Amino acid sequence: MCGIVGYVGARRAAPLLLDALKRLEYRGYDSAGIATVFKKLHVKKDKGRIHEIDRKLKLADLPGNVGIAHTRWATHGKPSRANAHPHLDSSGKVAVVHNGIIENYLELRQFLRKHGHRFVSETDTEVIPNLISYFMHQGKNLERSIRETTKRLKGSYAMAIACVEEPDKIIVVRKESPLILGIGNGEAFLASDIPAVLSHTKRILVLENGEMAVLTPAKISIKRIASGAVVKRKPMVVTWTAEMAEKMGYPHFTLKEIFQQPDAVRDTLRAATGELEKLVKLLLKAERIYIIACGTSYHAALVCKYALAKLADMSVEAVISSEFQESCRVDGKTVILAITQSGETADTLKAVQVAKAGGAKVACLTNAVGSSITRESNIVCHIYAGPEVSVVATKTFAAQVAYLLLLAIHLARERSLPKSKADELIKRLGGISDAMRAVLTGVEPQVKKLARRYCSAEHIYLIGRGIGYPLVMEGALKLKEITYIHSEAMPAGELKHGTLALIDQGTPVIAVVPPGESRVRMAGNVEEAKARGATVIAVAEEGDDMKGHVDEFIPIPPTEELFSPLLYIIPLQLLAYHITVELGQDPDRPRSLAKSVTVE
Ligand code: G6P
Repeated sequence: MCGIVGYVGARRAAPLLLDALKRLEYRGYDSAGIATVFKKLHVKKDKGRIHEIDRKLKLADLPGNVGIAHTRWATHGKPSRANAHPHLDSSGKVAVVHNGIIENYLELRQFLRKHGHRFVSETDTEVIPNLISYFMHQGKNLERSIRETTKRLKGSYAMAIACVEEPDKIIVVRKESPLILGIGNGEAFLASDIPAVLSHTKRILVLENGEMAVLTPAKISIKRIASGAVVKRKPMVVTWTAEMAEKMGYPHFTLKEIFQQPDAVRDTLRAATGELEKLVKLLLKAERIYIIACGTSYHAALVCKYALAKLADMSVEAVISSEFQESCRVDGKTVILAITQSGETADTLKAVQVAKAGGAKVACLTNAVGSSITRESNIVCHIYAGPEVSVVATKTFAAQVAYLLLLAIHLARERSLPKSKADELIKRLGGISDAMRAVLTGVEPQVKKLARRYCSAEHIYLIGRGIGYPLVMEGALKLKEITYIHSEAMPAGELKHGTLALIDQGTPVIAVVPPGESRVRMAGNVEEAKARGATVIAVAEEGDDMKGHVDEFIPIPPTEELFSPLLYIIPLQLLAYHITVELGQDPDRPRSLAKSVTVE
């Protein structure tokens, strides 16, 4: 996730862009840059936080009344000056800022190299200005060249383009990544999010998928990219404060990030390519595999363990990082997969160092390009969830799970799963974001009611089997972290071996019942709890006849067992969030916890 912004008008662009970038920094902050047009393109950019770059380069000094800017959260290529946006074509006439992922950039790069274009960064973005200038060289104007370019791009993008040959305008294009336009008096703005422009205008146009817009000081004209047909749209008048806008109208970052999960999953699956293949090869050669992680990342590791056993017939161990050196042995044929969204968790870094000292090879899965774990690893894999502000991990969990499920399918294909079956599963996994969206909106009203009913509970128990077990662990962790209610997750079959003694009249028990062969046994465990007087809330497939046997039934649309974590976790996250709000607590800032724990 990155932030883009742009300005055309009568004022100097650079100071305005700098201010807007600071407001977008929550979207990414490993590098930033500004390009303005004044007789030629002027560019200042570097790695680092915006205030550091500004101190060094004096970003606001750039001349001109037209400009575009970017704050980056690295995806392709490490944070560096060369990889920072804006990117220029090799003739230095077209500048682009881009938020999104270009999937076919390698083949486009090859094509452009053959036509004399030179590349100075490792980014996917750099093909865009070069492709635009390739078409401009054929005599097409900027708008035409951009339309030709978008026909050839695969992936997602919100981008803004400035060009010395048509110096009084900025053109923007949108496919999937967000983009809004702000209408001022004799000036126009663009940005990834509303907060960036809110201090200048409250009149906002939201650009839709497949649309482009030409911004000049006098007007903004929107068109469909494919047909060129003009789109008429009335601006909306935003009454949010800047803080509300940063949360995109959600009352808390936690809720915003829960609702961003479908996008995090989509972006992660789309970007997983070369690094995933390397990881598959490494794991296939290993004699012993440990997946190590802490907190929420550990629950993703457990999902991976179940998925690998079921689908790829592989047995791996998922180990809590801080327990690793006490309980695990490594040698030269051991592979460690370290999962950490921040890439900075001390317990995980320590376990990795111990494993390396024993001769193990290390791969990592992280949300933070260039973080400490990436420097410790032989293979670095990324999720693309964008910065997660809330202390509780939600969208990074979903993105980790999506990546790990994709990994399991690839491993299974290399071992015994027929290619056609694997391809079919990959295709269906690609469609899971839409199902997640449906669950998010479908279950929230019911979950809100449940939150009111159960916010005064002293204990909540959660039971699950198989792939449902890591889910209830993650659900219990969410509840503990922000509601402060004692919550305990149990493998459903283990309930009768002790914890059942704690369940009596009215004790809330949440049963997570994904589809699959364990469903029948889950039904038995639900009956056990009910017989002791428990109030059972079941999260199960819609139409399941368990509905008639429980006190509350949260229906989830049909999906395969393997993908169920991505849907079944949603009501648990929402329940924790809404109970916290009912209790008058702040879900974004839970007591005693930190987002990234850098001590052992
Ligand atoms: C902290 C956070 C948790 C997180 C855990 C692991 O405890 O509060 O939300 O799951 O660290 O973080 P990591 O960055 O390694 O995934």
